[in-house]
Amino acid sequence: MYFKNNSLFIFLVLLVLLINFSPEDVFAIKRNNKHRYRRHGTHCIGDKIGTITEEPKDIEIPEEIQVPDSAKFKFLLYAIGTAEYTCAKLDGVKYWNTTNYDTFLVNDIPIGFGPECFVVRHYFSYPPYKGGKAIYESIVPGDTSFVWEGPDASVPSPDGPENLAWIRIKPYATKGEGALNDFTWALRIATVGGSPPPNSTCGTDYEEGDTVHIRYTSQNWYYN
Ligand SMILES: *[C@@H]1O[C@H](CO)[C@@H](O)[C@H](O)[C@H]1NC(C)=O
Ligand SMILES: *[C@@H]1O[C@H](CO)[C@@H](O)[C@H](O)[C@H]1NC(C)=O
Repeated sequence: MYFKNNSLFIFLVLLVLLINFSPEDVFAIKRNNKHRYRRHGTHCIGDKIGTITEEPKDIEIPEEIQVPDSAKFKFLLYAIGTAEYTCAKLDGVKYWNTTNYDTFLVNDIPIGFGPECFVVRHYFSYPPYKGGKAIYESIVPGDTSFVWEGPDASVPSPDGPENLAWIRIKPYATKGEGALNDFTWALRIATVGGSPPPNSTCGTDYEEGDTVHIRYTSQNWYYN
């Protein structure tokens, strides 16, 4: 045997492979990894909220959640995150209560949800503020908009019960200044996933107070 052990052999093979990369190849690899956006830790933060400003025509909005004709489409964002449910008891009946979201929104998903740049964060407000149970918060440097909002109308997802309900959202209060300050309506639609386990599992497989986090994606359309 020429090689005393396998690792020396593997090392030499890798060395030969590396030497075969020209400096141009190495530069190309580096250039492809370079991002147009700032990175904060492992998160990539976009530099503007709302780059798709034309209302898509390929999704039919159910009547129950349509916005008034006078509402003007502002932009859409794509959301990816988890819905949190807590096994709770109300009037003696156990069920999965929605207790939070841990969601990030991006401007676009050119190749499906991947390492895109987050522009907005979405989570529950504890306690609610002026009627708004949830928050949209800009995480774009220079945009300080922050909105307390909540669902105003809801319809089951036309794509099946495993997907979060499609909802119309109203803002209740805002602070800061930026892209989220002046929307009057929003829609959460085209949901994929996010529904809780069956209510019958709360109190059997799960105890009161247990939480689950269910992954989902959606489109969020904003109007003013
Ligand atoms: C679970 O129970 C809650 C509260 O009663 C109810 O609103 C919800 O529709 C139930 N979920 C299912 C899937 O039936
Ligand atoms: C359900 O969760 C909300 C918070 O979203 C909370 O205010 C409420 O008390 C919870 N209901 C029960 C029955 O635990």
